[in-house]
Amino acid sequence: MSDPKSIRNFCIIAHIDHGKSTLADRMLEATATLTSKQMRAQVLDSMELEQERGITIKAHAITMDYIAEDKQKYILNLVDTPGHVDFSYEVSRSLAAAEGALLVIDAAQGVEAQTLANLYLAVDADLEIIPVINKIDLPSAQVDKVTQQIVDLIGCDEEEILKVSAKEGVGIDALLEAIVHKVPPPKGDPDALPRALIFDSMYDNYKGAIAYIRVVDGTFKPDMEILFYQTDKRYLVEELGVLRLEKLPRKQLGVGEVGYLVTGCKEIRDTRVGDTVMAFRKGAGNMPTPLPGYKEPKSMVFSGMFPADHEQYENLRDALDRLALNDASLRYDAESSTALGFGFRCGFLGLLHMEIIQERLEREFDLNLVSTVPSVRFKVVHTDGKEEWLSNPVDFPDPGMIDHIEEPIVRGQVITPDEYVGPVMKLARERRGQFVSQEYIETTRVNLTYDFPLAEVVFDFYDRLKSQTRGYASFDYEFVRYEPAQLSRLDILINGDPVDALSMIVHEDKAYEWGRKVVDKLKDLIPRQMFEVAIQAAVNTRVIARSTVKALRKNVTAKCYGGDITRKRKLLEKQKEGKKRMKRLGSVEVPQEAFLAVLKVDS
Ligand code: GTP
Repeated sequence: MSDPKSIRNFCIIAHIDHGKSTLADRMLEATATLTSKQMRAQVLDSMELEQERGITIKAHAITMDYIAEDKQKYILNLVDTPGHVDFSYEVSRSLAAAEGALLVIDAAQGVEAQTLANLYLAVDADLEIIPVINKIDLPSAQVDKVTQQIVDLIGCDEEEILKVSAKEGVGIDALLEAIVHKVPPPKGDPDALPRALIFDSMYDNYKGAIAYIRVVDGTFKPDMEILFYQTDKRYLVEELGVLRLEKLPRKQLGVGEVGYLVTGCKEIRDTRVGDTVMAFRKGAGNMPTPLPGYKEPKSMVFSGMFPADHEQYENLRDALDRLALNDASLRYDAESSTALGFGFRCGFLGLLHMEIIQERLEREFDLNLVSTVPSVRFKVVHTDGKEEWLSNPVDFPDPGMIDHIEEPIVRGQVITPDEYVGPVMKLARERRGQFVSQEYIETTRVNLTYDFPLAEVVFDFYDRLKSQTRGYASFDYEFVRYEPAQLSRLDILINGDPVDALSMIVHEDKAYEWGRKVVDKLKDLIPRQMFEVAIQAAVNTRVIARSTVKALRKNVTAKCYGGDITRKRKLLEKQKEGKKRMKRLGSVEVPQEAFLAVLKVDS
C-alpha cells in the first residue's frame, strides 16, 4: 500500500486534438511505465475506433512510478479524459477522482470552447490547475499570445505555465516535477471505515463487472464484505489491485489509491459510475456516509436502429446488450416501424456518440443497419394537463390534444476570431439562437454565448460553424432548460403512404423549408423505378411540398452491347449488391442512405 503523501492523482483536460493522448504517452515513457515493446502511439486510446478517429471516448486510468528530483518515489495516477462535447460527463467523473488537472492548450490554436468548458468543470471540482502549452515545436506556435490568454483566463503568473512538445518529448520532466510539487496529495482518514468512489466500470467476460475506484478513506482488502451504496448490493471482494497497462493484483488498496475491484458481481449496472463502494458493517450507524455522486449521463439524441435484414434482429439485440455492458450511457428499447420492421429506439449523448455506436455495431458485430432521423426529447403538455416525454415522431399526439410542446434549450459558447462574428451571428439566427453575451478573450478573439434549441445544434451545427469560419471557431454547449415552442410533425409520403421512419418533429417556421429540402433530396436518392414515384411532405395531413421521380426501365446491362459476358455478370452483381442496401417501402425501393440523408439536407 502506498503512503498517501507520495500519491498524486491528476487528469488532463484539453480541447479536442490539443495533444492530451500524445502527452500521456510521453509521461508513460518518461516514467518507464511501459517497455518500449508495449509502447505504441496513444496507448490509452485502446478502442480500435478511438485509434482510427484519433479521439478518446472512454476515460481510462493508469498508474506510473516516478522518482522525482528530490530522490523520492511518487505514485502518479493519471485519469485520461475525453475531449468531445458529447462526452463531457466522462470528464466530470475523471475530475472527481483527482486533485489536480493539467490544462493543455495547443500553442497554435490557443484557448478553445472545450478548454473553457473543461476548465470550469475542474475549477468547480476544486482541482489544482497546472497550465501547459503544448506543440511548441510547431512553426505556427504562438507561445507568447497563448501565454497571455492563459494568464487572463486563470490569473496565474507567466512562469507557472509549462511549455512542452508532446510530440518531441520536450519539457516532460519539468511537467512531472510540477505534478509532484503542485498537485496536493490525497486527503483521507486511513483509520476510518473504507469508502471509495467508482469513477468507471467495465465488463470482463471472466471476472464480471470490474469497478475502477478511487479510495477516499480506510483500506480495502480481499474477502472484505462491501456494499454498492446506490444499488444496495453486497458482495465479497474477490480481487483488487492497481492499474498499470494490465491490472496488477494487490493485497490492499488504501487512502488516495486508484485501482480496480472485482467482486463477482455480474451486472455492470450494480457497479454504477459515481456510486460509493463501502465496507459493509451490520447495524445502524456503523456504515460510512456515501460520497457525493455525480450526475447520471442523460440521453440527448434518440434514433431508431433497425437491421436491414429482418433476420438480424436477435443479433442486433445481443450486440446492443454487449455494448451497453461497457457503455452505461447507451439506452435502448424495442420498437417497431411499419417501414422498417422490428428494431430498437436508442438514446445517445450526442450525434458523435450515435455515429460511434452505429459504426461499432456494424463493424464489431457485422450488422447492416438502417437508422431513422435522430430526434431530441420534447415535453408534451396535453390539454388535460398531463405531461409526457416525446422522443419518437411516431408517438406525436393528435394536435387537438396538445396544449403546448416544450423543447430542450442549451447554452452554447462559440469562440471565434472576431472577423467571423458576422457569419456566426447569422448562423445562430438561422438556428433560432437567442443572444446572451459577447466578450473578448483577447484583442482578436470573441466568446459568443447563445441559447439554442438543442434540436438546432445537435445535428450539423458544428460542421456549418466550421465551414462558416474556415475551421477557426470552436463550440461547446450544456443543457439549461425546457421552453415552449411551436412544433409539428413533418411526414414524408411516398406514393401516398406515410413512411414512419422518415417523420420528424420540426419548428413550424421551418416546416416548409425542411419539407422542400427533404423531398428534393429524396428525389435524388430514390432511383428511377418502373413507375412514377411521388414524394410529398405534409404537416397535419396538409401537403406542403412535392416532387416526382420519373418512371424508367432500369437495366444496367443495357449499356453493354456485344459479347463480354463477364462484364455483364459483374454489372448485374453490382446491381444486386446495391439492392441489398435498399428498403422496400410499399412498392418502392428506397436506398438506406435516404433515411440519414434528411440530416444532411443543408450540405
Ligand atoms: P482527443 O483524444 O481526441 O481529445 O485528442 P488529444 O487531445 O488526445 O490529441 P492527440 O494526442 O490525439 O493529438 C492530436 C494531434 O496533435 C495528433 O496528430 C498528434 O500527433 C499531434 N500532436 C500532439 N502533440 C504534439 C506536439 O507537441 N507537436 C506537434 N507538432 N503535434 C502534436
